[in-house]
Amino acid sequence: MRKSPMMVLVTAVIAFAGTAGVAVGLPEASADRFQPSTGCGCHSALVDQWSESMHAKALSDPLYIYKRDEANKATDGTLGIFCDTCHGQVAVMSGEIADLENASPQSREGVTCDFCHQVTGTLTPIGNTSQVVELDGTKRAQFDDAVSPVHATAYSQFHETAEFCGACHNVDHPGDPSLHLEATYTEWKEGPYAEEGIVCQDCHMTPGPGVVKPNPGTAAGGGPQREHIYLMTFAGGNVGLGDAVLAEERLKAAATVEVDVAEIQERGSSANVEVTITNSGAGHYLPTGLTEVREMWLEVTATTADGQTEVLGEHMFQTILRDAEGNSPVELWDAVAIEHDDRIPPRESVTDTFEFQMPESDQVEVAATLYYRSCSEEMAEKAGVDIPTTTMAQVTKAVFATEEARAAAAVAEAGDEEGGSFGGATTWLVLGVLAVAAGTVFVLRRRGGRA
Ligand code: HEC
Ligand code: HEC
Ligand code: HEC
Ligand code: HEC
Repeated sequence: MRKSPMMVLVTAVIAFAGTAGVAVGLPEASADRFQPSTGCGCHSALVDQWSESMHAKALSDPLYIYKRDEANKATDGTLGIFCDTCHGQVAVMSGEIADLENASPQSREGVTCDFCHQVTGTLTPIGNTSQVVELDGTKRAQFDDAVSPVHATAYSQFHETAEFCGACHNVDHPGDPSLHLEATYTEWKEGPYAEEGIVCQDCHMTPGPGVVKPNPGTAAGGGPQREHIYLMTFAGGNVGLGDAVLAEERLKAAATVEVDVAEIQERGSSANVEVTITNSGAGHYLPTGLTEVREMWLEVTATTADGQTEVLGEHMFQTILRDAEGNSPVELWDAVAIEHDDRIPPRESVTDTFEFQMPESDQVEVAATLYYRSCSEEMAEKAGVDIPTTTMAQVTKAVFATEEARAAAAVAEAGDEEGGSFGGATTWLVLGVLAVAAGTVFVLRRRGGRA
């Protein structure tokens, strides 16, 4: 790596009142060391992609502002700057964070083009904004032959690594670096994708979910046609505040659900439903990141022919933080340990068992649905935003009381395929009427609640 006199050493580290020992090593620097994204006009397609991303919104994100203000309230105003350093590098390095309303555009931009493209490496341990920056105006990325009429360019192998992302996507507790609050990078590093050489960029900077390479195109107006260029979309799971289409696509590609239940179940007998969720598409744990806030849950229901639905159970996959007195859940600034973590590692599976009692009905439909929401409804309301729930995956299975009922349903289904949906609807109606006529009271039992 070329070392210029402009090399900014990590000596002028910004002081963190009240959080001594925090390894957040970004140097002080004037805002004019960074261009605003509007100055990246030659890359207008990339600017549009980035503008929709959570990186562009990291400092103005209402969920972020709400939590940062709570953190400040709880710590006499000392913790917020720790948060801002990762959500808005330019504002913190320039000191303009103190008066953001009157700050330069680049300071208000969150995680910006020109911060990322002036990074040269990282310190260890990786995380808590451990990057090293060289603020000489040279833009660094993966091309060794890029020529720009308006700025210097340099090849950076570092931009092609997961460590580049890890410098921000590992968050350790500011008071206790051994408490890993967010560990997306480490989860990836210890998983199968790292071994296969599939990095964050392959899934989050390419057009579709999964690894979609090559993606031919030009990186700049008038630039040469390239075999592969990356997108500055950085899409994850934020359907409410990020690019909804891209986020939904990724959530729907993250997990597979399988349901195992006996097809014939005698009336009144108790039936086991085994539901297996596999993290089939995420390069890290599912969910990852801010997992004491994220909500990903499995809901299993049984619905009788006449439309009565019973929830058999739910399972929320998350981390729960504990404080020094043993209380949980607590906010991250009060946390001393992770009390509970039942998230799903990459390519691994979790199986939950649920139970119900077969009613007097001929048929019950069992449904297993995996949902995702960026945060609880309560937090969204406090932050003044609308956060939707996304269905990541759903599987339904029909359970019959008798062989005859199954055969009848199969006949109805065949008719369905021939004659459209009307036959099917009639069958359901008839089954429903039969069930009501029998005066059935359905007893669907739940086992375990939160498994
Ligand atoms: C979070 C950091 C980050 C941000 C923000 C970011 N980039 Fe990038 N950019 C990268 C990385 C990493 C690569 C290279 C990926 C690789 O090689 O694996 C890259 C590649 C590029 C390239 C090379 C061509 C290509 O598309 O592959 C250009 C040009 C570029 N970025 C411009 C921009 C512009 C303009 C913005 C703002 C509108 C921006 N970047 C925002 C990290 C970032
Ligand atoms: C300088 C710090 C920084 C770097 C470097 C960085 N990120 Fe981020 N990233 C953030 C922050 C902060 C957020 C959260 C913003 C928010 O939601 O308010 C985020 C959010 C995300 C999200 C979530 C978006 C969503 O829809 O939920 C994804 C995906 C992501 N980053 C991918 C990457 C990848 C891939 C890289 C490396 C190429 C990278 N990031 C590099 C700071 C960074
Ligand atoms: C094999 C593809 C793949 C790889 C590799 C991968 N991710 Fe992801 N990532 C996904 C998918 C799919 C999702 C959506 C499901 C989810 O939220 O976990 C996701 C979600 C995310 C989110 C949003 C989490 C949330 O719930 O808000 C972040 C942040 C993120 N990834 C960062 C990274 C970083 C950083 C790396 C590298 C260290 C990385 N990813 C590697 C596929 C991948
Ligand atoms: C070293 C980097 C880093 C630090 C420090 C950091 N964050 Fe983040 N933050 C991230 C990343 C990366 C994400 C995205 C992870 C994900 O999608 O789950 C994120 C996401 C968030 C989100 C979710 C935003 C959304 O729209 O869903 C909130 C809220 C948040 N952070 C609050 C905070 C607060 C409060 C602090 C300080 C106590 C803080 N962060 C400190 C990197 C950081």
